[in-house]
Amino acid sequence: MNSLQLDIRHITEIISKEEIRTLYPEAMKHRMALLDKTGKGSDFLGWTDLPAKINAVEIEKIEKLARHWKKNMDAVVLVGIGGSYLGARFVIEALSHTFAGEVPGGKSPRILYAGQNISEDYLHDLLEVLSGKSFGLTVISKSGTTTEPALAFRILKNELVQRFGKKSLSDRIIAITDAHRGALRKMAEKEGYHTFSIPDDVGGRYSVLTPVGLVPIAMAGFEIKSLLEGAGLMMQRCDTEQNIEDNPAALYAIARNLLYRKGKRIEILVNYEPRLHYMAEWWKQLFGESEGKEGKGLFPASVDFTTDLHSMGQYIQEGERHLFETVLSVSKPRHRVEVPVDENNLDTLNYLAGKRIHEVNEMAEMGTTLAHIDGGVPNIRIIIPEINEATLGQLIYFFEMSCALSGYLLGINPFNQPGVEAYKKNMFALLGKPGYEKEGEELRKKLE
Ligand code: PA5
Repeated sequence: MNSLQLDIRHITEIISKEEIRTLYPEAMKHRMALLDKTGKGSDFLGWTDLPAKINAVEIEKIEKLARHWKKNMDAVVLVGIGGSYLGARFVIEALSHTFAGEVPGGKSPRILYAGQNISEDYLHDLLEVLSGKSFGLTVISKSGTTTEPALAFRILKNELVQRFGKKSLSDRIIAITDAHRGALRKMAEKEGYHTFSIPDDVGGRYSVLTPVGLVPIAMAGFEIKSLLEGAGLMMQRCDTEQNIEDNPAALYAIARNLLYRKGKRIEILVNYEPRLHYMAEWWKQLFGESEGKEGKGLFPASVDFTTDLHSMGQYIQEGERHLFETVLSVSKPRHRVEVPVDENNLDTLNYLAGKRIHEVNEMAEMGTTLAHIDGGVPNIRIIIPEINEATLGQLIYFFEMSCALSGYLLGINPFNQPGVEAYKKNMFALLGKPGYEKEGEELRKKLE
């Protein structure tokens, strides 16, 4: 299997090998705390060995349902937010045809998304797209009570009832939620949906290798076993204390922490492949929600290059020097497109004739990296041999493990998200949810 590589040559101007080696024993101590479950947030460490705990019966159940839905559905709406949505979307978008909606006669149902915002226009337009289509819902919520997906689910379920009758719900809805608790579990049992459980000890943003990610990814027609195998390979690679060079997750966690300590407060995840856009969205949630606590944490940002070189490029090159970049560098594209010769050469591009577009993209990446290093923006490179299920599985485990180690190096609990509650409390109070009357009054006074 082609494996990911980590290249940290371009941070060595400000971080020495000695500094990296010095922090390695501490990272290994945190690794032991993860494995022994003695560190902060130790109730949420079920993700650490998920690839080794593959449940063949569950995988078969997922694949069987995916085959059945493929035959019967034109579209599947994935309803969820945050960790209950981003992992699946990142893998599906990375593996799908760039213009999936435009390709006639696709083999799998079209995957659409809801419950990740509260926009009325979004829901209206989604209902319009679904009209005339046979569709199903995969609703994902660990708590079973998150407002955004609960609202979207109510509306979409109502649409199913209107169009296909109440009896259709048991065939057309898959609920992925807590095994025992929450409103969604209760509804699923009462109305007879297909169900999958989210393990108690796996938090939302670490859940892509549970049914939370596996069901939608299988629905979209991709190989979930390969994804898990890839993650398993990375799990083995990260299971070493011998040599820091052999443990990519520890090396990345140490490198980004050292950069942070030297004043690099913003990490920008860079891609040169549009299909990796949602991978960055998943990565931002993973690191932002895990590390942004107690007044600490790198701010995770992302750019799509070369597109954003024409918007953010100026700032990165010459703005405030509090940045470093982590570049997702894909070695091999899936398809071949060459630059043709043009007889008149009015665009003066004939010097590129016969070259592959990917070669031009690679030179753009190299040129940009060198320019940014010269401009004081250090650079970590993650080399991805090609984009497929196995390499994405490796990336998932790599980032999850490095995020956990990085959070422990920072001294925070990378597995909770207490700060997410603040906006919810205010929203409930302003909407008049029973029990929030006093808070509502106080907030309205502030708004006057
Ligand atoms: O990572 C997390 O825990 C969060 O982003 C949750 O996934 C998100 O808030 C959705 O929660 P739930 O699955 O309970 O609806």
